[in-house]
Amino acid sequence: MANIMFQEKSRILRNENISPGYYKIGLTSDRGYSEALPGQFVTLKFADQIAPLLRRPFSIHRLITTAEGISGIEILYRVVGTCTKKLSLCKKGDTLDVLGPLGNGFSIPSDARRIFIAAGGIGVAPMAFLTSFMQKKGADLSECTVFIGGRSEDDILCRDDFTRMGIAVRLTTDDGSAGEKGQVTDILEPAMKLRPDIIYACGPMPMLKAVARVAKIYAVQCQISVETMMACGMGVCLGCAVEPENDSDAYMHVCKNGPVFDSDIIRI
Ligand SMILES: Cc1cc2nc3c(=O)[nH]c(=O)nc-3n(C[C@H](O)[C@H](O)[C@H](O)COP(=O)(O)OP(=O)(O)OC[C@H]3O[C@@H](n4cnc5c(N)ncnc54)[C@H](O)[C@@H]3O)c2cc1C
Ligand code: FES
Repeated sequence: MANIMFQEKSRILRNENISPGYYKIGLTSDRGYSEALPGQFVTLKFADQIAPLLRRPFSIHRLITTAEGISGIEILYRVVGTCTKKLSLCKKGDTLDVLGPLGNGFSIPSDARRIFIAAGGIGVAPMAFLTSFMQKKGADLSECTVFIGGRSEDDILCRDDFTRMGIAVRLTTDDGSAGEKGQVTDILEPAMKLRPDIIYACGPMPMLKAVARVAKIYAVQCQISVETMMACGMGVCLGCAVEPENDSDAYMHVCKNGPVFDSDIIRI
């Protein structure tokens, strides 16, 4: 774990509807997230409210920086159920109870230049932090390509953010309303002839499985960020177990050993 987690009451700075069903929320932090790594997540609940009882996990999408330093975080979320519906109704000035940063993060080999990032739907959330983190560390992103897939154009998020950073963006949608019609791996696989140094992926399990398969065929290192249901988010309830690829290894827990794993160490 990169740094000490902390729990704090965070004020909502903004809560914007950026596409049908998708919101970006800005939260203050007194403690700052200066040591947070891309891929790490926070869990949150509504301050001083009982329901929903369980905290919900969300990737850190961005760090909010002011002249004084890091003053908060942004989360990108999709409305799917009780908590995210309630979150979408929150207003500027409302308070959330935030615990983080949790889990591990993507590891970034210092010699990686040709970087492929595959994101499916809301799986793009940690990738904005990943690219801005690499840029701040002085990485040359001119050979980085982000492959974003979604059901339709409304599910394609952050493309302009990556483009502004000078990163090539390739799109696919199931219905062909943006980019090429099909799945992310339909465009990732032919691009493998460029021999990327590493692939980072986040998205639905079938997508992660397909990306891991491509990485294996081309013998390219691949790190995947896995989303499972989580109850405690801290390694206590064992509800987020994933099977190891090697039968002799113990089960791993997404909240503690992940959410980022090398794609060849867990069975997906
Ligand atoms: C490490 C991690 C990082 C995440 N990062 C983000 C993020 O950046 N943005 C974002 O929008 N979401 C993210 N998620 C998923 C997010 O936690 C869930 O969407 C959220 O908990 C749903 O809460 P809810 O009360 O709205 O839905 P619920 O009412 O609890 O559930 C609604 C439906 O969503 C399904 N569901 C709930 N949680 C998950 C899950 N984790 N995986 C698959 N299906 C689920 C349920 O089975 C149910 O069908 C992340 C999950 C993990 C584990
Ligand atoms: S969510 Fe409880 S152990 Fe991972």
